[in-house]
Amino acid sequence: MTLPENPIGVFDSGIGGLTVVRQLLEILPHENIVYFGDTARVPYGNKSAEVVREYAVQDAKFLLSKGVKLIVIACNTASAVAMDVVRAHATVPTIGVIEPTANEAIKLSASKTIGVIGTLSTINSCAYTTALRAADSGVHVRTQACPLFVPLAEEGLFDHPATDLIANEYLSSFIGKVDVMILGCTHYPLLRSAISRALKGEVRLIDAGEATAKSVQELLSQRGLLNRQKTKPLLEFYVSDFPQKFNDIAEKFLGMKLEFVRKVQVRSNGEIG
Ligand code: DGL
Repeated sequence: MTLPENPIGVFDSGIGGLTVVRQLLEILPHENIVYFGDTARVPYGNKSAEVVREYAVQDAKFLLSKGVKLIVIACNTASAVAMDVVRAHATVPTIGVIEPTANEAIKLSASKTIGVIGTLSTINSCAYTTALRAADSGVHVRTQACPLFVPLAEEGLFDHPATDLIANEYLSSFIGKVDVMILGCTHYPLLRSAISRALKGEVRLIDAGEATAKSVQELLSQRGLLNRQKTKPLLEFYVSDFPQKFNDIAEKFLGMKLEFVRKVQVRSNGEIG
């Protein structure tokens, strides 16, 4: 039985989903959270849709084994290509980042000209374009895959000349063409300043984590599943490799000590545990 005190399950290809966790902690500070970061198989963003779909179902099954009340697919790539299969396997509601973010972008765009940046797989899937057009058929969408942004963020080069150079290369053609830009990848909020500089500060940036966290709040409230216990939440983080590295980055990023970070194994049959 699903109870309000059951945790929210969040999965991502690695550390990037912490951008979603940070937003969840901000607006839902009493929710218990179980996070799975697939650090052994990251990145998902340049893998085929077929492989990402397989991984996403395995990640979701792991979260379900932890008794989660809701699954959040924090990874844009997995949300873009695997939403349907995860939903088909999940016995609890599932939220991806695409729809909430697209809806938020439509709300905030005055000229209905919206930019989307993401991994190769996310951009090739056209998932954001489809969701934006479903929300407003008259919207103009301009997209760009930015495959070098993930390694730059992973290396911590948030404010570095190399990042500015690459951001200019990817983004200069958006200036004057869009008024809102979707940061359609978990890592891009970490490069927010560089992205904003490349866009000359003229474009409003939409963080997928923020829009998704709001959507989680709405869904839990509608279903009477908001945790009523106001105690310190239990936060459990599982990763498939490099738990110490994950711990160090996560503590810095979330600004708190993590009491529970554990490595789990991805077995050859795809079972995680
Ligand atoms: N989490 C991925 C996303 O949001 C970025 C990292 C990766 O390629 O796995 O698309």
